[in-house]
Amino acid sequence: MQLSDYKLSNTTEIQQLFTRVFSDSEGLEEGERIGTLVQDMINDTAPEDIFGYIASEQERVIGCIFCTRLFFDSPIEAFILAPVAISTNQQGKGVGQALINYGIGELKDKGIKLLLTYGDPNYYSQVGFQQITEAVIKAPQPLSQPEGWLCQTLDGSEITPIPGNSACVKALDNPVYW
Ligand SMILES: CC(C)(COP(=O)(O)OP(=O)(O)OC[C@H]1O[C@@H](n2cnc3c(N)ncnc32)[C@H](O)[C@@H]1OP(=O)(O)O)[C@@H](O)C(=O)NCCC(=O)NCCS
Repeated sequence: MQLSDYKLSNTTEIQQLFTRVFSDSEGLEEGERIGTLVQDMINDTAPEDIFGYIASEQERVIGCIFCTRLFFDSPIEAFILAPVAISTNQQGKGVGQALINYGIGELKDKGIKLLLTYGDPNYYSQVGFQQITEAVIKAPQPLSQPEGWLCQTLDGSEITPIPGNSACVKALDNPVYW
């Protein structure tokens, strides 16, 4: 397995991966929705506000993660990890964890200080995330599952409250994803 940056030339393959994986796990409608989200993220996000990483095997993409910028009133370098997809037939083999850990290492190297995500605490706690409340860091949209609001620092510091509101990139700024 190879871990690397995503390339724009992989866009169609990546979008198809997300559509397929989320259709398998959550149904066709959710698959289409997440496929569209990923396409919008790639097309509508400034290059400095998006990082994507892929796991591939024999030149085929088997996993992908995206991290996009979160904006605060203070100039803190923060990103949100979402979405994440591992090919259905490759799940449960450690690919997700390896890819997320690879992405975290790349973000650290870029000097990013804070990484958030919104997902299953049982899974994401295995790659360093812990649950936080919106009293600590506000989410960009109302959370339908507040227990899934998760954070980790990338510089070894404690998580400290960030005052004020947050904003996400345009593609993610839709209540349907939150
Ligand atoms: C969730 C997902 C990203 C995990 O990737 P993966 O490569 O299958 O997981 P890994 O093999 O790295 O990790 C396996 C560990 O995570 C646990 N795990 C896997 N999927 C999980 C899930 N959905 N919820 C909770 N835990 C999960 C396994 O039990 C295993 O734990 P263990 O090592 O203690 O036995 C992948 O299964 C996937 O793409 N699922 C469908 C889409 C999705 O739900 N994406 C995440 C939301 S954005």
